[in-house]
Amino acid sequence: MLKRYLLAPGPTPVPPEVLLAMARPMIHHRAPEFDPIFAEAREGLKWLFQTRNDVLMLAASGTGGMEGSVSNFLSPGDKALCINGGKFGERWGKICKTFGVQAIELKVEWGHAINPQLVKDALKKDPAIKAVYVQASETSTGVSHDVKALGEIVKAHDQVILVVDAITALGVFDIKTDAWGLDVVITGSQKALMLPPGLAFVSVSDKAWALADKAKNAAFYFNFKKERENQVKNQTAFTPTVSLIIGLQEVIKMLKAEGLDKIFARQGQLAQAMREGMKAAGLALFPKESPSDALTAVSAPDGVDGQAVYKNLRVQYGITAAGGQDHLKGKIFRLSHMGYADRFDVITAVAATEMVLKGLGHPVKLGSGVAKAQEILMAK
Ligand SMILES: Cc1ncc(COP(=O)(O)O)c(C=O)c1O
Repeated sequence: MLKRYLLAPGPTPVPPEVLLAMARPMIHHRAPEFDPIFAEAREGLKWLFQTRNDVLMLAASGTGGMEGSVSNFLSPGDKALCINGGKFGERWGKICKTFGVQAIELKVEWGHAINPQLVKDALKKDPAIKAVYVQASETSTGVSHDVKALGEIVKAHDQVILVVDAITALGVFDIKTDAWGLDVVITGSQKALMLPPGLAFVSVSDKAWALADKAKNAAFYFNFKKERENQVKNQTAFTPTVSLIIGLQEVIKMLKAEGLDKIFARQGQLAQAMREGMKAAGLALFPKESPSDALTAVSAPDGVDGQAVYKNLRVQYGITAAGGQDHLKGKIFRLSHMGYADRFDVITAVAATEMVLKGLGHPVKLGSGVAKAQEILMAK
């Protein structure tokens, strides 16, 4: 028997209480029972996003939220500034191109975070830019960008919105949507929200709604205005993911019981233990700065194929992690600690990494990383 551990950066494990809630018999989304469930989920999302704005729920993966955050706010020919520091940053440019939006890319070397000054300069240089697109946590490299600093910069431009892909950030570390001036914040169900894939969430500020009023791009399914008209009445424009929304109600109960500060502290401690554990095992982290607390990207040591580490974790020890994408394939492997994760997930990950490396002939002192992780995890 091989026991399975899901430690990939999404989908992440779903708590048993949430699975049970979602197993309830189906209800109809236009029936009165759905109204209070949706209302509670809406209110809970506002709390989680730290916003007074409505948070739309869309039947989509996270990319649906990203796509709608281009098509609903910009028109063909408009200019957008896209921060591209990895696979998901690159996606902004591709979506813009699909909708005829001119993407000005600010390329960031993979493993690094954007220098906010570059955004400030770009906005000053080109007053035609209408939106800035960024990731709060770039999952392909394990780096987080400073969206608080970007919020400060974009706030000074009344005609520019800041769109934040917080798909592996929200519910992991502090994202103060309103206080930091983040106009559009996106997340997905299968990351820190501890749900199966299938729901995208998007909060929209008044400044962004004003831009949406002028936008001329085509939006039928991901039509944010139509969704808002329905969702303020606890309805959705189309058939919602009823079971996932029932699961979300349960997730919100769990998250509220823990409280935002404690969630961020727990996630931060897990991330620190994973990072320090890997370093104590003699490994180097891939991020050169600002590592995200959602996941840890580890550089494969010289002479070791990162894909072999990722594969052996799964085949030999039942651990699903993630490899590297594009030019990082074979160079890194990634382990998640976001969402329904605790101390023993980190210990398992560090222990298994040591075992896999030793099995691949890499000199590693078994237990060296585990001991370091344990020390950190015992701290209050
Ligand atoms: C930062 C980030 N953005 C976007 C996405 C895309 O989300 P999805 O695969 O749910 O469409 C992901 C998924 O891993 C992600 O981590």
